[in-house]
Amino acid sequence: MFTSKEIRSTFIDFFKDRGHQFVPSAPVVPIGDETLLFINAGMNQFKDIFLGMTKPDYTRAANSQKCIRVSGKHNDLEEVGLDTYHHTFFEMLGNWSFDDYFKAEAIEWAWELLTKVYSIDPDKLWATVYEGDQTDGSDPDHEAAALWTKVTPIPKERVLYFGKKDNFWEMGASGPCGPCSEIHIDLGPDMCDRKHVAGHKCAVNSGCARFIELWNLVFIQFNRLGDGTLEKLPARYIDTGAGLERIAAVLQNKQSNYDTDLFMPIIDAIADLTGHEYTSSLES
Ligand code: GLY
Repeated sequence: MFTSKEIRSTFIDFFKDRGHQFVPSAPVVPIGDETLLFINAGMNQFKDIFLGMTKPDYTRAANSQKCIRVSGKHNDLEEVGLDTYHHTFFEMLGNWSFDDYFKAEAIEWAWELLTKVYSIDPDKLWATVYEGDQTDGSDPDHEAAALWTKVTPIPKERVLYFGKKDNFWEMGASGPCGPCSEIHIDLGPDMCDRKHVAGHKCAVNSGCARFIELWNLVFIQFNRLGDGTLEKLPARYIDTGAGLERIAAVLQNKQSNYDTDLFMPIIDAIADLTGHEYTSSLES
């Protein structure tokens, strides 16, 4: 079994072995960026690099970023407490390419790490890609769809197209953005928490706990300007984000992120102090 510490260090080491520089987590309060209240993704600290305003000494980076999602475009406040896999504060594992490798390597390495290193059953994994948008003329990401079946053994039936809401990632109302490709895991029919919802059908992006997004691979190519228009960036970048708490739940065979070693020491201490026994985050 992987402890959360091992999941984190394995992720960083995997990407260091592939030429990535480890960059420590930035503080959760952004420095010099008034477009965000809190850091909401690993890529925030690299914003000026994406915009071509600064050039780092390295072209590949990896880290584990502390994130808070309680406001703005990425606000998980409404989900927290209602499901087993959203948090206001969480850690995002990520790898970045600054005008270096692009979609093929990002997809191949994410698959390799999940299935060969963390040993997640490949038959449980699904991928999604951007279906494009006629209203703004953005193209479907057929390139990413083709790469999934070229550089990984995933069958094409498990590569699905979705729209802007799920497969076009933006850091905020403005800033670097681009189409993305997500990796979801099917945890099996017993994990569905929407069986009581009329007409619910378990599927990727159907909002139930059976299918959970583990990792988002963003292909940053645009800057969203303050007036809402998209400006093409002079270079292409990779920006990925994987949920440490979600990967821990999968690798530790827990039905809830709260039952992993990231939360249980805190929950146990609270149970001790209050004299209330903790049963499971799945029981109310
Ligand atoms: N920047 C990628 C993500 O937050 O999903």
